[in-house]
Amino acid sequence: MRKTIIAGNWKMYKTISEAIELANGLKRELFKLDAQDIDIVLCPPYTALSEVSEVIADSNLKLGAQDCFFKDEGAFTGEISPLMLKDVGVKFVIIGHSERRQYFGETNESINKKTKAVLRHNLIPIVCVGETEEERERGLTFQVLDDHIRNGLKDLTEEQIGQVVIAYEPVWAIGTGRTATSTQAQEAQRYIRDLLAKFYNKEIAESIRIQYGGSVKPENIVELMQEPDVDGALVGGASLSVDSFAAIVKRANEVKK
Ligand code: PGA
Repeated sequence: MRKTIIAGNWKMYKTISEAIELANGLKRELFKLDAQDIDIVLCPPYTALSEVSEVIADSNLKLGAQDCFFKDEGAFTGEISPLMLKDVGVKFVIIGHSERRQYFGETNESINKKTKAVLRHNLIPIVCVGETEEERERGLTFQVLDDHIRNGLKDLTEEQIGQVVIAYEPVWAIGTGRTATSTQAQEAQRYIRDLLAKFYNKEIAESIRIQYGGSVKPENIVELMQEPDVDGALVGGASLSVDSFAAIVKRANEVKK
């Protein structure tokens, strides 16, 4: 059975004091959940990583980052390395979010380098894939997923791919309030799993966790989680308040497959 993973991507929101408040609130709301059953990951902006790390130390909450560079150190102004993330207590790193593809020139090639760098440091990459609205309308969804998986995860060993979490995030559903239907999410996520079976093998494919992301809310998490290939969620907007994120986590945790 694949362990549920719910991650909150705080994006470019929350000052340090706001981040501490949110992390403390989540800790209070979610302390009863068993870390054996569910990974609950908070991904604050870089500036709040250290403080959030302290708040959630010795809790069932885990720390994630929203991106990283692929070198350990060097003259790369403005970048943060996996080594530095590990140092502050990070366990998960979101790689290749569509906003990074769209606004910051992220490509399958850079995503591949970053994924390998993260794995080298025994951190878990959450690799984002997904089609734009135009691509879906032109019937290219599967082709885009094939491209993102084939090239973004190129040359990973069986051991490495086994560590990866994949987030299927249709770009048209991110921040728009337009969630994919659970049927659409399942269809895309089954396709991703079949690709992994083709590129690696069935056993590995069945062990890899695939999250859905895009306008996830307390109202739609149960239906999404009930789909056989939806193993969790990557949550943006609804991860910014204690009530909505805690409700999503609790409801997801109750869906047993
Ligand atoms: P959203 O963002 O939940 O606000 O749609 C999801 C994401 O970008 O990861």
